[in-house]
Amino acid sequence: MTPDPASEFGSGPQSPYTALDHLATMVAVVHPDGRCLFANAAFEHVLGLSRRSVLRGSLFDWFVDSQQLRDTVAAVVRNDYSTSRLDALLKRPSAPHGEPLPVHAIVNQMERENAAIVELVEIEQQTRQDREERALDQAQATKELIRNLAHEIKNPLGGIRGAAQLLEMEVESRELTEYTQVIINEADRLQALVDRLLAPHRKPHVVVDVNIHEVCERVRALILAEFPRGLAVQRDYDISIPDFRGDREQLIQAVLNIAHNAAQALTERIAAGDAVITLRTRIARQVTLGKQRYRLALDLHIEDNGPGVSESIRDRIFYPLVSGRDGGSGLGLTLAQTFVQQHQGMIECDSVPGKTTFKIVIPLP
Ligand SMILES: Nc1ncnc2c1ncn2[C@@H]1O[C@H](COP(=O)(O)OP(=O)(O)OP(=O)(O)O)[C@@H](O)[C@H]1O
Ligand SMILES: [Mg+2]
Repeated sequence: MTPDPASEFGSGPQSPYTALDHLATMVAVVHPDGRCLFANAAFEHVLGLSRRSVLRGSLFDWFVDSQQLRDTVAAVVRNDYSTSRLDALLKRPSAPHGEPLPVHAIVNQMERENAAIVELVEIEQQTRQDREERALDQAQATKELIRNLAHEIKNPLGGIRGAAQLLEMEVESRELTEYTQVIINEADRLQALVDRLLAPHRKPHVVVDVNIHEVCERVRALILAEFPRGLAVQRDYDISIPDFRGDREQLIQAVLNIAHNAAQALTERIAAGDAVITLRTRIARQVTLGKQRYRLALDLHIEDNGPGVSESIRDRIFYPLVSGRDGGSGLGLTLAQTFVQQHQGMIECDSVPGKTTFKIVIPLP
């Protein structure tokens, strides 16, 4: 009887490959004859099969027209190349319509063993990852620029305000002091803006055990204090969500900024008395954030039944200084995003008239 490969090489602690389970891309270790020594969690997840079933047959059986992959694995194991790439189609027995998944395969030599390591990246996932990475880099660069600019504005601003005050003491006519008052007031307004621009970089990151529901409750209380009539803040919590390490004040600020925007967008419904904001917490499994895959994550939704984010700014709302509101400084969501990213998380928005949802995803231990 042939030994069951799954019991021999599963994902148990004895397997030398368990670290590969943390990768977001599919990875398998395979002999040239197709016998699979290991398949990681992402592989299992995409095929929708247990690891045992994945390991039982030949890896090549999971591909539509696998000859090219077979030849490549054989060539790599023979040492013709140390690494080789090709595009392939992965069968997905568990997908609703069973349509195959286009993947980019990277076949690498394994030292010592008579096997190759095959990494599969979903072609769509690859483009999405590239796009996300570019967006992140761009956002980072913009934030850096704004931060430097804020510093440059801050210093002369104190001088301008001080000079205007001195001038005010010297001038006698009332009319002229109106002008100095304008200078002082505008300098103060600019000072407040600059302070907000620099805020996320000023306070140290204080890490404690955070209970997300404490965060939600604080935000709920603050919003209800400001909008006592016409607005309901509903809670829909999964109380089994574990505490995680994070900066509580930052998270409160992030959720508050989002909920505050929702309340501001709800003005008409508040007047009509049927405005609703919902705070919903759930556990998400097998989540990919950036390049990292997490087994568990917090999924926090802040939903409102307002008119929705206006289309003209929808894809830019997280950028600094983008506002659709009179008197808005366009920093609330930028700050929220910075704070969530400091928790290795991400934030996104789905909005149609009547239902706007901001989603925060943060990895859990
Ligand atoms: N729930 C929402 N419904 C509709 N529009 C929204 C919602 N949340 C955000 N927006 C839009 O996104 C814009 C950007 O929000 P952001 O919090 O970054 O800045 P702001 O609210 O304008 O200013 P502030 O810096 O005071 O928060 C808002 O001006 C608003 O037009
Ligand atoms: Mg705001």
